[in-house]
Amino acid sequence: MTYARIEIAPSILAADFARLGEEVRAVEGGGADVIHVDVMDGHFVPNISIGIPVVKSLRKATRLPLDVHLMIEQPEKYIEDFVRAGADRVLIHQEATVHLDRALSMIREAGAQAGAAINPATPVAALSEVLHKVDTVLVMSVNPGFGGQEFIPGATEKIRQLNEWRARYNGGFRIEVDGGVDLENAAELAQAGTNTFVAGTSIFHTSDPAGATRQMRKLAMEALKQRV
Ligand code: DX5
Ligand code: ZN
Repeated sequence: MTYARIEIAPSILAADFARLGEEVRAVEGGGADVIHVDVMDGHFVPNISIGIPVVKSLRKATRLPLDVHLMIEQPEKYIEDFVRAGADRVLIHQEATVHLDRALSMIREAGAQAGAAINPATPVAALSEVLHKVDTVLVMSVNPGFGGQEFIPGATEKIRQLNEWRARYNGGFRIEVDGGVDLENAAELAQAGTNTFVAGTSIFHTSDPAGATRQMRKLAMEALKQRV
């Protein structure tokens, strides 16, 4: 797979759900590449968010790819439903299924891009046997379940490690980071090898979500230029 070097993926968890269409259009205007959708079941994570009907409505509200982050146990039960509802990418947690390999195959068979996510306590090595069948590796930089948490610094080192593996094996996956991403740490994350920047609070809890989206891309791109 070829992947964009930098993608900004606003997380609608921090948006105003009563004005979701408007909020999505605002970040679209700011050049967002992907819309990140957080699905929580109250079991895998201690919070409940949104599900299939919202994905269906979002599908009608935007042309941008929908990046559906399933923070649910046994995600394999719902993969087809989410793809049918309009998910372009489905991300599942390594910790949430005993059959990660099979579940990743199911995502691709259903016609979406497959992503594997790891919690802060899970080492990158937990994905070593499935890297050839993912389009995205999602490194969680907070314990999933809530927006607005502080970035856990160990995530940056994991991204560096993944970036090295990717270079060594000519891997074709993108590296995504999620949790506490903001205008302060975006440059360092870009230099570490991040492609997809998920950001909720730092985009939607501002007076100008479009401007924050634009600014995050600018910082990430500039950091990449400095690197080469
Ligand atoms: C956390 C979610 C994130 C969340 C990030 O469980 O997976 O996508 O929206 O929110 P911020 O950017 O506020 O940390
Ligand atoms: Zn997420």
